[in-house]
Amino acid sequence: MTAQLNPRGDVAVLVPAAGAGVRLGPGAPKALRLLAGEPLLVHAVRRVAAAESVHTIVVAAPVADVEAVRAMLAPVAPVIVVPGGAERQASVAAALAAVPAGPEIVLVHDAARALTPPELVESVAAAIRTGRDAVIPVLPVVDTVKEVDGAERVLGTVDRAALRSVQTPQGFRRSVLAAAHRSAGDPLTDDAGLVEKQGVTVTCVPGSELALKITRPFDLALAEYLLTTGA
Ligand code: CTP
Ligand code: MG
Repeated sequence: MTAQLNPRGDVAVLVPAAGAGVRLGPGAPKALRLLAGEPLLVHAVRRVAAAESVHTIVVAAPVADVEAVRAMLAPVAPVIVVPGGAERQASVAAALAAVPAGPEIVLVHDAARALTPPELVESVAAAIRTGRDAVIPVLPVVDTVKEVDGAERVLGTVDRAALRSVQTPQGFRRSVLAAAHRSAGDPLTDDAGLVEKQGVTVTCVPGSELALKITRPFDLALAEYLLTTGA
């Protein structure tokens, strides 16, 4: 059934989905690869659309697949689909440019985090509503972390208590994200990084293990398993 978005919602969610998926191995662009018979992007958008504050969803699709993505998502939720760019940052910028007037909270997500629960979308948006400029979901780092040199010699042990693994959706006041993208330099892998460069404070909220990024074949196998457990 097609989800209805909330016309009184205050959140736009950008879903960059234009990457190739090189680390997943040969095949279609990653967002279009199947997980339990449906493209990763369908899983991701379905969960975003189920979050009650979401007013708008904009997907940045692989350039060659814009029409296919529109057709694929039409039964899932009403979404805007734009062509993505060569880097994730360019895909996010293209999606941001397509957000209509209205939503003052913008979340930037990854199609590759296909099992992200709607509750995480809501908790990030709620933290922005309390007056934060930028909010990221994080998990503690569980492994011991070493710094090494070019010859794989250990230079030292990093204090992991002060480290966090960062997920998406990352949330921003719309004006803050727009300003960061206007003055963006070299491409970064996340939007909070751009905002940090503007001197804006970024605050962490608890992430979700279900928001894992499907990057390598192992992650796809894990996601298949998680779906069987009701994720
Ligand atoms: N992405 C995008 N446009 C790009 C590159 C990435 O929209 N030019 C999106 C991907 O589709 C993904 C998200 O950004 O949903 C996170 O990127 P990543 O996990 O690195 O995906 P890929 O770039 O597709 O994978 P890889 O780096 O292995 O090629
Ligand atoms: Mg990539």
